[in-house]
Amino acid sequence: MEILENVSLKSFNTFGIDVKAAFFCEIQSIEDLEELKNTDFYTKEKLILGGGSNILLTKDFDGLVIHANLKGIKKEETTATGQIVSAMAGENWHDFVLWTLKENLGGIENLSFIPGNCGTASMQNIGAYGVEIKDTFYKLEAYNLETGAIKIFSKKDCQFGYRESIFKKEEKGNFLITKLYLELKSEGNHELKTSYGAISEEIGNLGKETNIHSVSEAVINIRKRKLPNPKEIGNSGSFFKNPVISGSKLDLVKKEFPEIVNYPLNGNQFKIAAGWLIEKAGWKGYRKGNAGVHKNQALVLVNYGDALGADIEKLSKEIRESIFRTFDIELETEVNII
Ligand code: EPU
Repeated sequence: MEILENVSLKSFNTFGIDVKAAFFCEIQSIEDLEELKNTDFYTKEKLILGGGSNILLTKDFDGLVIHANLKGIKKEETTATGQIVSAMAGENWHDFVLWTLKENLGGIENLSFIPGNCGTASMQNIGAYGVEIKDTFYKLEAYNLETGAIKIFSKKDCQFGYRESIFKKEEKGNFLITKLYLELKSEGNHELKTSYGAISEEIGNLGKETNIHSVSEAVINIRKRKLPNPKEIGNSGSFFKNPVISGSKLDLVKKEFPEIVNYPLNGNQFKIAAGWLIEKAGWKGYRKGNAGVHKNQALVLVNYGDALGADIEKLSKEIRESIFRTFDIELETEVNII
C-alpha cells in the first residue's frame, strides 16, 4: 500500500474533472485499510472514491482520497430459486452484470451498462428501466472508518429510496462499502421486466426471444443511443433526480404545459420527467465553453474537454433556476458535488 501526494483525479471521475488530491491511496484489501488506519494520513479529511461515476469534483481535495479497489466475484449460496452472489466494492458494475448473465442468473439485466463500481452502486441505489438494485439486494458489508469494524447492513438497514440510501444521509462519510451481496434467480425463475420504455420494441427489432440476455442487449442498445459514453464525453449520468410533485401542483402546471411527462405514484403524487422539463425550457444541446447539456438526454450534463467542476456546477444552477422560473418546480441534484 502506497500513499501518493498531489495526485490528479482526472482518470478517477467519469466527468473527467482535473482536480488534485493532496493524498491518495488505493485499497485492495481490508488489510490495506487496516494499514492505512495506522498511519498519520488517516486523521485527514477523507473522500472515498469507487468508480467515480456519480461525483462532481469542484475543487482540489486537501485531505486523503481512498480509492476502493477491492476485487472478487463469487457464488455464495444456493437458494430455492437461485443464488446469492457477491461482488467486492471495486468490481466494475457492468462486468459484474455480464458475469451474472454468463451464469444465467436473472435480476440485474435491466441495470446493464451503468457506469461505476459495485460498492457505490448500492450507495446510490442505481436504477434503470423499472429495476433498482434494492430489488435484488441481499446485504452488504462495510468498513467503519472510525472503529475499523466490519458492519453488515440488511436491506432494511440501508433505507433505500429513489437514488438514496443511508450512506448518502445519516451515515454519509462513515463507512467504506466493501462487499455487496445480491439474491438472483436461476433459469425457470427469471422475472423479466420489459414494460418500461422501449425494451420490448428493441427486443422485437433484434428479432430475439425475450430472456435476460436479450433484455440486457436491448438496454445496452438504448443506453448507447441516449447516453454519452463517459470514455468519450465526460459525464455522470443523470445530473438531476426526477422531481415528485402533488396532484394539485401538476394540475396547475398542466394549464400551461398540458403535455408535461409525468408518472403517477402512490398518494396523489406524480414523478415528473426532469429531462422533459429541461428540454422544454430550451437547454437540450446547450453548450458554454466545455460545459453542456447532452443533445440526446437533457438530464445529463457533459464535459466536452477541460471544463472545471465549477463550470458544470454553475450550469446546473442556471438550469435549476430556469426550471423553477418556468414551471415552479425545484430540481434536486442526483450527483454528489464535492
Ligand atoms: N425526456 C425528454 N427530453 C429529454 C430526456 C427525456 O422529453 O431530453 C422525456 C422522455 O421522452 C421520456 C421521459 O422524459 O418521456 C423519461 O426519459 P428516460 O426514459 O430517458 O428516463 P429519465 O427519467 O430521463 C431515468 C433515470 C436514468 C435511467 C432512465 C431509464 C433518473 C434521474 N434517471 O431517466 O438513470 O437510465 O430513467 O430507466 O431517475 C442515472 O441515474 O444516471 C440514469 C441515467
